[in-house]
Amino acid sequence: MLRAAITGTGFWVPSRVVTNDDLAARIDTSDAWITERSGIRERRWLTRDAEGNTEITGAEMGAHAAREAIAAAGIAPGDVEQVIYATLNPDVFFPGNGVFLEHLLGLGTAGAMDIRNQCTGFVYGLAAADGFIRSGLARTVLVVGGEIQSTALDLTDRGRDVAVLFGDGAGAAVVQAREGNRGILASVLHSQGRYARELFAEAPVATATGRITPAMIAEGRHFPYMNGKLVFQHATRRFAEAIAEVLRKGGVTPDDVALFIPHQANQRITDAVTARLGVQPERVFSNIARYGNTTAASIPIALAEAVREGRLASGDLVVTVAFGSGFTWGANLIRW
Ligand code: COA
Repeated sequence: MLRAAITGTGFWVPSRVVTNDDLAARIDTSDAWITERSGIRERRWLTRDAEGNTEITGAEMGAHAAREAIAAAGIAPGDVEQVIYATLNPDVFFPGNGVFLEHLLGLGTAGAMDIRNQCTGFVYGLAAADGFIRSGLARTVLVVGGEIQSTALDLTDRGRDVAVLFGDGAGAAVVQAREGNRGILASVLHSQGRYARELFAEAPVATATGRITPAMIAEGRHFPYMNGKLVFQHATRRFAEAIAEVLRKGGVTPDDVALFIPHQANQRITDAVTARLGVQPERVFSNIARYGNTTAASIPIALAEAVREGRLASGDLVVTVAFGSGFTWGANLIRW
C-alpha cells in the first residue's frame, strides 16, 4: 500500500535564551508563577537590532530546519515537489512563508502553500501531505512549522498572561511516498469557529480601512488575546478526544503507542491528558520547559528532538496531537 512516510526531520531555534527571571525583570511576574502554571523555565527569542528587526526572518528559520530534514532524508532540495508551511505569523501580510522558503532553498518552482491553523498547523500539514501523496499529486512533500512570537508579545503587565508562554523556533519534516506499512496511518482534524475570538490577534484587519489604526495599537489589539481558562478547559478535553478518535481510526489502543508527541502548550495540559489516557509519562514527549509554546513549530521541533534522542525505532507507533486558536484540534497516527 502507498503511504506517506516521514523520512527526515530537523529543527532550529535561536541561540538567545530568555529565562523566567529575565521576564520578571521587565514585567510583574515570577519564575514560580510561570513554572507552576505552565512548566516553562525558559524560551528562545530571536535577537533584534537597534531598529527592532529580528536577526533572521521566519522563512529563514524554516529554511534552517528544512535543510536539516532534507539532509536527514538523504534527498536533494530539488526532489521536493510541494512545500506546506504552517505558521500563524507569516513574515509579511501576504504572500505566505511557503514561497519565501521555496526561494531560500532553491526548490525550482515546487508548489508552496501556507496553513494558518496556529498550534494545530503541523497536524493539519501532515494530514495534507498524506493526502497529496496518497492521491498521487506529489511524491515528496516538505512540511514546516515555524513561528516568530517574540515580536508580537505585549511586554507590559497588560500582556503578561500571554507573553510568558510563547517562544520562537522552527521544525521540519520530509514526507515521502513509500510502499509498505510505514507512514501516516490516520489523521483527524476539527475546528469550532465560535471560539475564534477566545484566542486570537485581531489586527491588522482586512475589514477596516487602513487595516491598523493608532487606536487599535493603543488598545493593544495587534497583540494576541487569550481567554486562558477557557482555552485550558477545551484543550484538555479536545486533546484526549482527538487521541481516542485517531487511535480508533487506526484500530489500535493507547498501549500500542510508543510515543505521544503533544503540541507543547502547557505542561499542566499535557499532564492532564496523560492522566486521562492512563499512560506512563515517559511515553509522552515534553520539552516545554526549554522552549515554551512555539505554536506550529512545537510538534516538528519535538519530533526532531525525539529522533535525535533515539526515542523512535522503526515500526513504533507515534501520535502527534494538537489544540489551538480557532479553536482547531487534531491528531496523526504514524508508524515510524
Ligand atoms: N505572572 C503573574 N501573575 C499573572 C501572570 C503572570 N505572567 N499572568 C496572569 N497573572 C495573574 C492574573 O492577573 C490573575 O490575577 P488575579 O487573580 O489577581 O486576577 C491570576 O494570575 C490568574 O491566575 P489563575 O486564574 O490561577 O491563572 P490560570 O490558572 O488560569 O493560569 C494560564 C493561567 C494562562 C497559565 C492558564 O489559563 C493556561 O495555561 N491556559 C491555557 C494556555 C494555553 O495553553 N494556550 C495555548 C493553547 S494552544
